[in-house]
Formats: sequence, C-alpha cells, structure tokens
Amino acid sequence: MNENNQNPLGSLDEWEDDLLVRYPEESTPKAKEEYRNYDDPARDTVKEFYRLNHTYQTFDFVQEKRAEFLKLDRREMGLWDAVEFLNTLIDDSDPDIDLDQTQHLLQTSEAIRADGHPDWFVLTGFLHDLGKVLCLFGEPQWAVVGDTFPVGCKYSDRIVYPEFFAANPDYNNPLYQTTYGIYDEHCGLDNVLMSWGHDEYIYHVMKDYLPEEGLYMLRYHSFYAQHREGAYDHLMNEHDHELFKWVKIFNKYDLYTKSPVRPDVKKLRPYYEDLAAKYLPDTIKF
Ligand SMILES: [Fe+2]
Ligand SMILES: [Fe+2]
Repeated sequence: MNENNQNPLGSLDEWEDDLLVRYPEESTPKAKEEYRNYDDPARDTVKEFYRLNHTYQTFDFVQEKRAEFLKLDRREMGLWDAVEFLNTLIDDSDPDIDLDQTQHLLQTSEAIRADGHPDWFVLTGFLHDLGKVLCLFGEPQWAVVGDTFPVGCKYSDRIVYPEFFAANPDYNNPLYQTTYGIYDEHCGLDNVLMSWGHDEYIYHVMKDYLPEEGLYMLRYHSFYAQHREGAYDHLMNEHDHELFKWVKIFNKYDLYTKSPVRPDVKKLRPYYEDLAAKYLPDTIKF
C-alpha cells in the first residue's frame, strides 16, 4: 500500500455523522440541522475514507484479518475496562457534539432502556461499538468502521460510493463478480463473508453471551446496504429476514440518539455492571 494517509477521518464519528445525512430521521426533520452541517472538506474526508475502504477490503484481506483478530488473544477485559479502554480513542474534531465513545454507547442503550426493551437489548446497545478498539490495536479507520458489505460476490450499486469498487482487485476476479459469486441463492448470511470491521469483530467477542437477536444487531448494524436498502435479499434466508427486524429496530437507536445532553456515567455505571454480571463473564477476550 502506498497511501500516505490511511486515516482521513478527523474522528470515527465523521462516518456516523455522514450516515445521518444519508439516512435522516424522517419523524423529526429538524434533527438533521442539529448535527454538523457538512461543508465540502468534511465530505471529502468521508469520501476518501470510503475510497480506501472499497479499494482494500478484498476477500483475501477479510480472511487475513479474521485469522489475525478472531483468535481473541490480544486482551482480556471486564466490560467496564473495555469501555474505558475504548474511550482512550480521543475524538475531538466534532464542532457541535463533542461526545466521547462512552457517551454514544450510553445514549444508545439508555434510549433502548427508556423504551422498555429487554435488558439484553439494553446491554447490546451499550457494547455495540466496543469493536472499535480495533483502532487501538493499530488498524486503519477503513478496516474498523464504514458500511459493511458481502465480499466474494458482486457489489451492489446500493452500497455508498459504489464507483470506488472499480479499484478493488476483486472487481476483476470473475469468480467474485456474479450476483451470487462464491455463494448459493438464499444461503443465509452466516455463510457469507462480510467486509472486515468493528461489527464482525464484536460479534465474535460476544457470540457466546447474548441472545441471537442481539448478536445479529452487533454483527450487521453497519450493513446499511441490506437493513436500509434491501440489496442482498438474494443471499438472505428466512431466518435472516426474521432477525433483521431487530437489526432495523436497533439502527434507529444507534443513529438517532446522539444528543448534546451527556448521560451521567457515574450514576449509570452500577446498572451496567449488574447487566454485565448477569450476561458476561468477569473478563471478556478481545
Ligand atoms: Fe457501530
Ligand atoms: Fe454506534
């Protein structure tokens, strides 16, 4: 790779802010204005981020990263230690909402709790972005965040900036560029390899501990081409469709709960420590 800047985003939040521009919350049209009003330079960094993501997320790259990280032999941390570790990822480039990672997690999970959802759903909201610790393990932004998509088959033009896939070596591999590629029709997403990032990683970290609905939320929350665009119905099976109902419910909490009002971390901590004690082991392997 001869790219100079592997991390064009000022912060990981720039990707999520861009999602809000792409998928504004219809019910409150004003919400969009409360977030950063993207000027061209900001949009350029997001575009450059996607260029890198679409260029380098090849089928082989995904296999390499799975072999490298899914051994989960990097760190063992309790839930709260993991949250504090993630928070060492400093984001300070957002002019309007300068929230740290813990606050995004708590705003997501507290909104889920306020709506009376089951406690495992609240916990899922609280830990859904812990996979971003990949950045702290030295991974570039384009291998941690961004919309995810299947590799090993044709890229949908409903993925954001599809034109950048032309630079991906897989684009010229005829095996990977038919509708089904290496997969079978309706084979189910469990048989489909997704681009590598914080979703697949945190799914593997948590896969023994949460109900399947929560695991789907973790694993596919950035798969906008499916949960928002329905672009990969041909790979989904009935079971995926059932569980994507939950992924869609979760997405609203992930995207539309950002607020300048900071949750009281100290006051909330005991509740989340209790949830962790109920569902998770004392230390979790990352
Ligand atoms: Fe996420
Ligand atoms: Fe999130």
